[in-house]
Amino acid sequence: MTDSPAPSHAPTDPTAPEGSDELLGLIGRASRIVAFTGAGISTESGVPDFRTPGSPWMANKPIPYDEFVRSEGARREAWRRKFTMDDLYRGARPSRGHRALAALVREGRSPGIVTQNIDALHQAAGLPDEAVVELHGNGTYAVCIACDRRHELAAIRAAFEATGEAPRCESCDGPVKSATVSFGQPMPPDAMRRARDLSLACDLFLCVGSSLVVQPAASFPVIAKRNGARLVILNREPTGLDPIADLVVQGEIGPALAPLARPA
Ligand code: APR
Repeated sequence: MTDSPAPSHAPTDPTAPEGSDELLGLIGRASRIVAFTGAGISTESGVPDFRTPGSPWMANKPIPYDEFVRSEGARREAWRRKFTMDDLYRGARPSRGHRALAALVREGRSPGIVTQNIDALHQAAGLPDEAVVELHGNGTYAVCIACDRRHELAAIRAAFEATGEAPRCESCDGPVKSATVSFGQPMPPDAMRRARDLSLACDLFLCVGSSLVVQPAASFPVIAKRNGARLVILNREPTGLDPIADLVVQGEIGPALAPLARPA
């Protein structure tokens, strides 16, 4: 790493992890920044991540997509879990990390964000859908897996709690599923294309709050790095891609990015 000149940004948060100043310096000098986020950016918002020990998400074995399609019982269980988790983080608000990344997009420093998250907190921080690439879908609405018609969760939940039956499509009577991507479900081709385009067009690729263990999502930092972008990993724990990163900032996202965050 070249000696970074004195940072021209707001002073870092005193509790910021080591390397935060260098991170802010890299962000200040970059011209096209792409952030790649995982569940760790939402824990400050009260949304649990997946792999921190004790995570409620790991209380149950995930229901694979083919089982959801095949089994009425699996569909009922999937919806029971979905509404339980929705209650867990109802009213979650964007974190300092969400607000900092939204500021970079608003200021024209970043063309968009690639996220593995389904909580729509990047949009809640003020980003339009076209600036957020959701690799694993979105958990704030549902779709029919036969005809792709959108269904709203409030109506589905009311019917589910009244009857206990998994929802069926109002148009074609097909099974309705949360608009998230389950294990074994094909990745959304449009999101994959957009994520690749962003990864190939950036000069700084910023991984924020991901263990980087799930494929194909975790291929995008490698694609960006191989294409000449600088790779930064900001995460509480070490990741498997740390060895290829230009900078690893190991610690809390909120204090590290706080100087960039603007009030929501
Ligand atoms: N600051 C910094 N790092 C944090 C914070 C925080 N406040 N909170 C959590 N982390 C870190 C954790 O230490 C962990 O390494 O964020 C990382 C989150 O990793 P995961 O829980 O594995 O989440 P993610 O990488 O997004 O998982 C990818 O796996 O289960 C699937 O589809 C699901 O999209 C998800 C995918």
